[in-house]
Amino acid sequence: MNHPGKHAAALAALEHVKLDTVLGVGTGSTVNVFIDALVADGTRIRGAVASSEATAEKLKAHGIDVLDLNMTGALELYIDGADEANPALQLIKGGGAALTREKIVAAASREFICIADKSKQVDVLGEFPLPVEVIPMARSFVAREIVRLGADPEYREAPRTDNGNIILDCYGFHITDPLTLEAALNAIPGVVTNGLFAARPADKLIIGYDDGRTETVLPPNA
Ligand code: 5RP
Repeated sequence: MNHPGKHAAALAALEHVKLDTVLGVGTGSTVNVFIDALVADGTRIRGAVASSEATAEKLKAHGIDVLDLNMTGALELYIDGADEANPALQLIKGGGAALTREKIVAAASREFICIADKSKQVDVLGEFPLPVEVIPMARSFVAREIVRLGADPEYREAPRTDNGNIILDCYGFHITDPLTLEAALNAIPGVVTNGLFAARPADKLIIGYDDGRTETVLPPNA
């Protein structure tokens, strides 16, 4: 494992998983370590709601039932990674293009635990380009609106998202008011959602260090 910080955070999340519950599972390399650790640990869960096709495939390959969120009701716990996290546990997510389903599962979960290595902790969000999922026919219009909001959008030359849409990666936002920017971006016609998790931040952030230590961070008002 060449990312000991991700590994440490993923392992520490295991103790929050309760037997026989339905778990929300995010997307990315840190979550992949978490899934492997969950299986190795032998923790029996009733099933999982996946935030992407990639995660669903990995869960199924491990013999874990992948359930439809429409059938499960609210989830007790969602575990996912992040690209950046600020001290209020507001996040940038979507580096893996799964932001829309991630936002849905996070919103449908009572607790959201974010797992990340130390490099993801920042004072102000925005160094990582903010992903915005866009309906393909609106790409140029939305890009112009994003320029008006002060950023430089770049069309991600990659396969479509799991929802059949495209991603604009927005460079140059210095996000001192994540709630306002999240709402402003989502108000542009053609935007499906953006990768700011401000209205629904994480409830806990488990930071993993390269020496194997972990730290659990709570939001300031917790
Ligand atoms: C995917 C995500 C991921 O959580 C984020 O990109 C972090 O990924 P990794 O754990 O590989 O660093 O938001 O859409």
